[in-house]
Amino acid sequence: MSIKDRRGDITRTTFVLAVNSDVGELANVLNIMKEKKAKLVHIESRKSRERETDSDIYVDVETRGGPESLETLTAALRQHCSKVDVHRIERPSRGMRKTTSLDKGSTKYTPDGIPWFPKKVSDLDKSANRVLLYGTELDADHPGFKDPVYRARRKQLGDIALNYRYGQPIPRVDYTEEETNTWRTIYRELHSIYPTHACREYLANWPLLQRNCGYSEDHLPQLEDISVYLKQKTGFTLRPVAGYLSSRDFLAGLAFRVFHCTQYIRHSSDPFYTPEPDCCHELLGHMPLFLDAGFAEFSQEIGLASLGASEEQVQKLATCYFFTVEFGLCKQNGALKVYGAGLLSSAAELKHVLSEKAVIKRFEPEITSTTECMITTFQNEYFFTDTFDEAKAKLRAYSRTIDRPFEVSYDPYTQTVNVLDNAAKIGRVVSKLQEELSVLASALGKV
Ligand SMILES: [Fe+2]
Repeated sequence: MSIKDRRGDITRTTFVLAVNSDVGELANVLNIMKEKKAKLVHIESRKSRERETDSDIYVDVETRGGPESLETLTAALRQHCSKVDVHRIERPSRGMRKTTSLDKGSTKYTPDGIPWFPKKVSDLDKSANRVLLYGTELDADHPGFKDPVYRARRKQLGDIALNYRYGQPIPRVDYTEEETNTWRTIYRELHSIYPTHACREYLANWPLLQRNCGYSEDHLPQLEDISVYLKQKTGFTLRPVAGYLSSRDFLAGLAFRVFHCTQYIRHSSDPFYTPEPDCCHELLGHMPLFLDAGFAEFSQEIGLASLGASEEQVQKLATCYFFTVEFGLCKQNGALKVYGAGLLSSAAELKHVLSEKAVIKRFEPEITSTTECMITTFQNEYFFTDTFDEAKAKLRAYSRTIDRPFEVSYDPYTQTVNVLDNAAKIGRVVSKLQEELSVLASALGKV
C-alpha cells in the first residue's frame, strides 16, 4: 500500500513491505533506500498477519527524478522483500483517497487477470486494514500534526479499527470533553442551515437518529449503536476504519452494504476544517441518508459495479460516488436540495452550493465520471438528479457499459456476492426470480 504526493520534482510514495522479522533484513531495506537516494519520511512496523516470521513495514519516502527512480527503487526492494505494495494517490476525496496502483503488485489478480474482490462480507477482514495512512501518520499541514496528545489519540482509535473483525461489536469510545466541544460547535452550525438546504430524506431521518442512536449536540453517538439501528432499517452496517482506504476497497464495502466509518474527530483548533473524513463528516453527513432505502440501494449499486472492475473503471465509479454520495443534489418541489455528505458536513460549502455562484448540472455518469474532483477548494461543478431512483437507474445503465466478463448478484440472506459467469449460476438466479414473481402474482390476485 502506499501514498504519494508531488511537490515539484519530488515524488512522495509509501510502500508497505513484508520482510523477515530479522533486524538484518530491515537494515537491508534501509540500505536500499540509501543507495537509491530515497529520503525516509516515516517508518512504522507491525507483525505480519499473513506470515508468522514476517513483519509489515510501512515506509514513507521521497524520491527525485520522476517515475524512473521510483521504478528502480521498487525493483530493488522486490529483490529483498516477500511483498512490495505501491500505490499512487492522485487526489484524496472527502470520503476516501483515490488511488492509482503503480503496478499489479498492489492488487491481487486471478489467473484470468481479474482483480481480487471480496465474495462474502467477512472477506472485508482482508481488505479493511489496507489503509493508506496509519493512525499516527498526519501530513505536515494537518492541524493535529504538532500535537502529541492528538496523535496518540488517533493511534488509539486507529488500533480499534485495525483489530476489528467481522461480527464483533464495534468497541465504544469514551469521547473527551474537548472532543465533545468540537462536535457541538459543528453540530450547532450545521443545524442552523439544514432546514433550508438538506433534502427531505435527511430531515425526516434526523429525528430517528436522535431517538434511537444517541445523537445530540452534547453527545457523540457510538458507531455500534448506529450500526445496529441501520441494520434494522436498510441492512447497512458500519465497520471502523483506521484511515483512508483505496477506492477499490472502500467501494467493495458498499457492495455488502458495509460503510467503512472513521471513529476519530478532527483537531479542536479548527472545528470547521478537516483535511480528511472524520466522525463529524460520517455521522452528520452520511448517516441520515443511509437510513433511506432508495439511497442505500443506490450506494450498493456503485459498490457492486466496482467488484472486479479495472483500475480505470474503479476510478470512474469513485468519481460518480464523489459527485453523488459526497456532493450530490436532488430536486424537490422544484428546488434544489442537498444529499451529499461532503456538503452536509461543511457549513461553508453547503451555503455556497445553493448560492448563485455554484455551477449545477444534471448527473450523467459518462460525463460526471470524468469531472475533476476538487479537494482543497469548493467543487467547480455539482450534479443533481430529480430522485435517488433516477441516479440509481443511470448508474445501473452506466455499469452495464463496464467491460467485465461476468455480472454479480447479491444474496442478502448470506451476505455473499454471486459471480454470474456460467449458465448454471444464471439459471439458479432465474428460478429464484420466477419463485418471487409467482409470489407477486399470487399477492396481486388477493388485492
Ligand atoms: Fe464521506
